[in-house]
Amino acid sequence: MSEHPVTPNPEAVLIGDAMTGGYGTGADILHSCTIAVNKGEIAVIVGPNGAGKSTAMKAVFGMLNLREGQVRLNGEDITKLSPQDRVAKGMGFVPQVRNIFPTMSVEENLEMGAFIRTDDYKNTMEQIYTLFPILKDKRRQAAGELSGGQRQQVAVGRALMTKPSVLMLDEPTAGVSPIVMDELFDRIIEIARTGISILMVEQNARQALEIADKGYVLVQGANRYTDTGQALLADPEVRRSFLGG
Ligand SMILES: Nc1ncnc2c1ncn2[C@@H]1O[C@H](COP(=O)(O)OP(=O)(O)OP(=O)(O)O)[C@@H](O)[C@H]1O
Ligand SMILES: [Mg+2]
Repeated sequence: MSEHPVTPNPEAVLIGDAMTGGYGTGADILHSCTIAVNKGEIAVIVGPNGAGKSTAMKAVFGMLNLREGQVRLNGEDITKLSPQDRVAKGMGFVPQVRNIFPTMSVEENLEMGAFIRTDDYKNTMEQIYTLFPILKDKRRQAAGELSGGQRQQVAVGRALMTKPSVLMLDEPTAGVSPIVMDELFDRIIEIARTGISILMVEQNARQALEIADKGYVLVQGANRYTDTGQALLADPEVRRSFLGG
C-alpha cells in the first residue's frame, strides 16, 4: 500500500496542503501530507506511533518550517505566519504534552489562554465553565492537582479562550479512562456544533473515527487512507492494519 495524494475541498476552513518538511535541518518527516477540515466538522488523524501525526499538527500550527506545501486558513495562505499570528487569525491548538501551566490555578490557565484578547473575555470564560462545570468548582485550584481528564478540560478550555474558528487537539483523551474519553468526545461534538471546526489526533482510533466527519490515516509522514470516519471504520484493510481487526 503506497501513499495517495489527497485533494482537499477548496472550501475547507483549514488546509495543510501537500506539506513536506521536518525538524530543523533533519530529514523530512512529512511527505506531501495533506490534512483539511470543513466548517463545523470533526477531522481526525490516526496512525501508528511515530507516523508524524503530531508533526503534521505542529506544521499546520507553524511550529515547523515546511520545505514544500502550504497552510491555508479560510482561504488565506498563512504558511509564513508565526504560531501566535495564527492564533490571532483564529487557530487554537492543544499540544500533546505540556498543555497546561500546572502551578497556576484553573482560572489563571484560562486567563493565559486569553492573552491576545483586548476585549472582555468573561463571557467566554462562563461558556467554558458551562461546557466543563467541574472547572468552575475547581477554578481556584492549581491545575496540576486535577485528574488527567480534568487537566485535558483545562487545556481545551484554555484554547477556546481566544474564540478560535478551528480547534486543533493532539490526543485530547490520552491517559484517561473510557468513560472520561466518551465524555470528552461528547464535549468536542458540542464544540463542533457551535460552528468551530475540530482537527484532532487520536490514539483511540476506533472511537474517534465514530465521531469523525473525515478521517486521515497517516503512515510514515504520508497519507495512507482518507475517507469519512464511517467508511474508514468499514474498510477491512483499515480495520486489520490500524484498528486491531
Ligand atoms: N522535536 C523533534 N525533533 C526531531 N525529531 C522529532 C521531533 N519530534 C518528533 N520527531 C520525530 O518525528 C517522527 C514523527 O513523530 P511524531 O511525534 O510526529 O509522531 P506521532 O505520530 O505523533 O507519534 P505518537 O503517536 O507517538 O504521538 C518521529 O520519528 C520522531 O522521532
Ligand atoms: Mg503524537
